[in-house]
Amino acid sequence: MNIANSKELRRGAEAFSHLDRTIDTIRTELGVDPISVDAIRNPDVYELEREKIFKNCWLKVSTDWEIPEKGDYKVKELAVADASVLIVRGKDGKIRAFHNVCTHRGNKVVPTEESETFGNARANVLSCRFHGWVFGTDGALRSVPLEENFGQLDKACLGLREIACDIWEGFIFINFADQPKQPLAEFLGDFGKLFAGYPYAEATTAFRYSTVLECNWKVAQYAFSEAYHVPTIHAGSLPGFKGIEPGDFKLIGPHASSAIYGEGMDTAESTAKFAGLLHKDGHHGPRPDMLPPGINPTGRSDFQFELPNIFPNLLIHLASGCGYPGLAYFTHQFWPLDHGRTLWEGVNYFRPARNAAERVAQLHVNALHRNAWLEDTATMEDTFTGIRSGAIDEMQLMDQEFMIRHAARMHDKYLAQ
Ligand code: FES
Repeated sequence: MNIANSKELRRGAEAFSHLDRTIDTIRTELGVDPISVDAIRNPDVYELEREKIFKNCWLKVSTDWEIPEKGDYKVKELAVADASVLIVRGKDGKIRAFHNVCTHRGNKVVPTEESETFGNARANVLSCRFHGWVFGTDGALRSVPLEENFGQLDKACLGLREIACDIWEGFIFINFADQPKQPLAEFLGDFGKLFAGYPYAEATTAFRYSTVLECNWKVAQYAFSEAYHVPTIHAGSLPGFKGIEPGDFKLIGPHASSAIYGEGMDTAESTAKFAGLLHKDGHHGPRPDMLPPGINPTGRSDFQFELPNIFPNLLIHLASGCGYPGLAYFTHQFWPLDHGRTLWEGVNYFRPARNAAERVAQLHVNALHRNAWLEDTATMEDTFTGIRSGAIDEMQLMDQEFMIRHAARMHDKYLAQ
């Protein structure tokens, strides 16, 4: 299907034309001056980021298909907010978020050892293992052993402490503010509309990679926010690389995006063979029609993926399965552990394989991505060491790096509020 021929879709794309930028307008709006590295180098900035950004912005912490059944929960450890967050689907099917903190004396209700923990609350209750207080999946305190020995205890006021939680397209976001400054839909603004409608929830097979990087979180995020590095850093994982063409630059409030076009992202011959296996039919094959109308609006056949940067710490790369065989989309997220350490999480999402051959093909494509991400992450600690050394005070940014320029500007804006 050539989506450029669809009047309806073209009208949909036109609805977002006010977000489009050319290189000239990007330069006019964001400037061309070098950007200071102080926000990366200065440890004092981190405390401000915690309060003004990470405890104030909507943060993606899960997807609703990770906790599909009543009682399913996920616990996410977020050092940047000194928080352990329990996201749970209640008996009523509603997803809520709570501090994973027992209101008796503060123990974790769900013990955790990893950055993410999954489970199911049997009978829709969770029991703190310290003294046995029991909470419903709606957060209410249900029972207290030896309750009569407390003298006074207002159980109605001792439920789990709730965190603002909302969902966009199946992505679960939380906000640590007692009263978020704006609802999630408003925070996402035109981004939420432009990227709505993609079949995110169909791609329930996820391969997750993560590692702790010895660098500031913005170094990691910036490295994934541009494609200028592709011909050099990815020469190993993309041996047939012939060039790419960034395009469709968009500034969307605190968020930004651009498309990556080009026939030059060729991979190894073996990958092409596995791609052929996945492309046999419509289940995993290219589906340019599934892209929202504002993405690849002219229906170019060399569309590789859309690279949106969602403030403050999330990238969602939308693919149509053309350049990325059978792959629906992939995400990167960057969680500060402290000023100089970052938990990076990269996740590849596929539609579920229907047989062993498809599974093997997915594993192969996934391994290709792993190799590319290893190449990406290999630069970050060196970059941070270089910036910390004081040898440079500024970054020089070219047009393809406009999302870094935009993110740095938004970062400073939030810190100044
Ligand atoms: Fe949870 Fe005591 S701290 S029951």
